[in-house]
Amino acid sequence: MCGIVGYIGNSDTKEILLKGLEKLEYRGYDSAGIAVQNAEGIHVFKEKGRIADLRGIVDENVASNTGIGHTRWATHGVPSQVNAHPHQSTSGRFTIVHNGVIENYSQLKRQYLTDVEFKSETDTEVIVQLIEKLVEEGNAVDEAFRQTLMLLKGSYAIALLDAENDETIFVGKNKSPLLVGLGEGFNVVASDAMAMIQVTDQFVELMDKEMVIVTKEKVEIQNLIGEVMERAPYTAEIDASDIEKGTYPHYMLKEIDEQPLVMRKIIQAYQNENNELHIDEPVVGAMKEADRIYIIAAGTSYHAGLVGKQFIEKSAGIPVEVHVASEFNYNMPLLSEKPLFIFISQSGETADSRAVLVQIKEMGHKALTITNVAGSTLSREADYTLLLHAGPEIAVASTKAYTAQLAVLAILAHVTGQSCGTVQDFDLIQELGIVATAMEALCDTKEEFEEIAREYLSTTRNCFFIGRSLDFYVGLEGSLKLKEISYIQAEGFAGGELKHGTIALIEEGTPVVALATQEAVNLSIRGNVKEVVARGANPCIISMKGLEDEEDRFVIPEVNPMLTPLISVIPLQLISYYAALHRDCDVDKPRNLAKSVTVE
Ligand code: F6R
Repeated sequence: MCGIVGYIGNSDTKEILLKGLEKLEYRGYDSAGIAVQNAEGIHVFKEKGRIADLRGIVDENVASNTGIGHTRWATHGVPSQVNAHPHQSTSGRFTIVHNGVIENYSQLKRQYLTDVEFKSETDTEVIVQLIEKLVEEGNAVDEAFRQTLMLLKGSYAIALLDAENDETIFVGKNKSPLLVGLGEGFNVVASDAMAMIQVTDQFVELMDKEMVIVTKEKVEIQNLIGEVMERAPYTAEIDASDIEKGTYPHYMLKEIDEQPLVMRKIIQAYQNENNELHIDEPVVGAMKEADRIYIIAAGTSYHAGLVGKQFIEKSAGIPVEVHVASEFNYNMPLLSEKPLFIFISQSGETADSRAVLVQIKEMGHKALTITNVAGSTLSREADYTLLLHAGPEIAVASTKAYTAQLAVLAILAHVTGQSCGTVQDFDLIQELGIVATAMEALCDTKEEFEEIAREYLSTTRNCFFIGRSLDFYVGLEGSLKLKEISYIQAEGFAGGELKHGTIALIEEGTPVVALATQEAVNLSIRGNVKEVVARGANPCIISMKGLEDEEDRFVIPEVNPMLTPLISVIPLQLISYYAALHRDCDVDKPRNLAKSVTVE
C-alpha cells in the first residue's frame, strides 16, 4: 500500500507535498514523511501518525523547489518514526520513498550489503543502500538506479533524490501504481492523480519495469534496458469537489448520501441513444461464450460478487462461482472449458486480485474488470472494463462503490439475459430508478439509524447479522462495515446456520440484526430471530414494506425483490457509521486499514 508524491519546479514544495499526501492518506496512514531539497542538501521530516502529525514537525523555514513524500501502511517493520519513509543511504547522499514490497530484500542484503549498517527494519532501505553502493563502485546515478531496479523482485513505486543533483527526481515502477504529472515549468509524481490534481490534470501512465528521469522541464521515460519510451499524457477527469468533504463531518457520510446520485449516473452511463440499457457487444459476447463465470474479489467487493452471482445466474442462466482473490491461486478449482473471469475491485489495484488476473491471463483466459478507477492496473490488464461511475471513494469503508458494483452487475446480467433471450419484460431502468428514490428516503431518515446505533451498539462487545438468501450476503457486508469502523466483533451468518455452533455466543442483550426483505424466507428468518431471542438476544429486525411485522425495528421502502441488497445495505452502513461515532472511532481512517490493499 502506501502512497508517494514528488514535485520539482519553481514553487515551494512543502505544502504541495503535504496536500498531496493528505489526498493519499487513504492508502495508509500509520506514519508519513517528506524530503525536501535545496542548495544546502536534503532535509527529511518524518513522523509516526497522520499527515496532521507530520505537518507539526515540518520546518516552515526550509525553502525548497524539489521534494518527495510518503504516507505509510506498514508491511516490514512496525509503524514508527525510524521505519517511516523517506529513507536515506548511509552517507545521506540518496533519499528514497517507496510503495510496494521488495520480496528479495533479505537476499539482496546478504548478497551485496553485508557491510552496511541498516537503520530501519524496512525492505525499502535495501534499495537506497544498493544505489549508494553501485554509485560508490563508479556507476552514474541513473545507471545505478537502473541496475538496482533490475535486481529487485516484487512491487515498487519509487522516487529518489540525489543530494548532489537538485535538478532531478529518479522514478521507478513495477506493479505498484504510479503516474507522472506534467505542468508548465514543473513536473510531479504521484501514486494517484487525485494527489496532484490541485496542480495539474495532465498525467502520463507508467508501465511496469520503467524508470523516469523527471526534471522541472522534462520527463524522460525509459525501459530497464535504457530505451526511451514515448507516451502521450491524458487528462485526469477528477472534479476537485468530488475529493473534498464539503460540509460533511466525514467522507463516509458524504459517500453514503451520494448513493442515489450514483445510481442515476449509472443508469445514464449504461443507456444507449434509444434509452435502452447497453453494454458493449464484446463484453456481452464474452459473457455468452462462457460456460462458467468466475468472480474474483476481496472484502466488500467479494460481498458484491456474491449478490452478482444471483443476478447473473437468474437473468442470464450462466453458472457463476465467487472466489476470495487471496485464496484462488493457491486453491484453484477445476476450471470449466470456457471460463470468463470477472474481477470486481473499487480501486482496481488490489494485489490479491491482480495476482489472479496475471495467473489466468498466463493460462490464456479472458477477463472483465468492474472498477471505479479508469486506467487502474486491473482495468488496464483485463480484456474488458466496466466502470462504476461512483466518483472517488475516499473513506476507507466502502459504501457507494458496493451499491454501484451491484447496479453494474445487475445491468450486466440483464443485458446479457436480454441478448440470450432469458430476460423479457423487465424494466431494469425503472426498477433502478425506484431503488434510487428508496435510497434517498433512507438517507433522509438518518436519525432513526443514529438511534438504533445508540440503543444497540454503544457498549456492546459483539453483534450478529443474520439473513437468508440475498439478505445473508448483505448481512456479511453489514458485519464487515460495523467491525472495520467501530471495532465491535461483528459476524454475518445465514439465518439457518447460526444454530450450528455460533448461537453459543448469544448472551443476555447480544444485538442480532436480522434482515427480512425476501418473501420466500420471511417466516423462516423470523423463526431464527425467535431462537436467538429465546437465548437472551436483543433483536433488531429490518424488513421490507409488504413483509413487515409489528416487532420490526425499521421497515425499508419496497423495491424489486432481486434489488433489495442495493437498499437494505444502507441502514447497515448508517448504523455502522453512528456506532463508530458513538464509540469515538476514527470513521474515515479506521486503525490498521488502508483503502487500497496493494500487497498480497
Ligand atoms: C471494506 C473495504 C475492503 C475492500 C477490499 C477490496 O469496506 O473497502 O474490504 O472492499 O479491500 O478492495 P477493492 O474493491 O479496491 O479491490
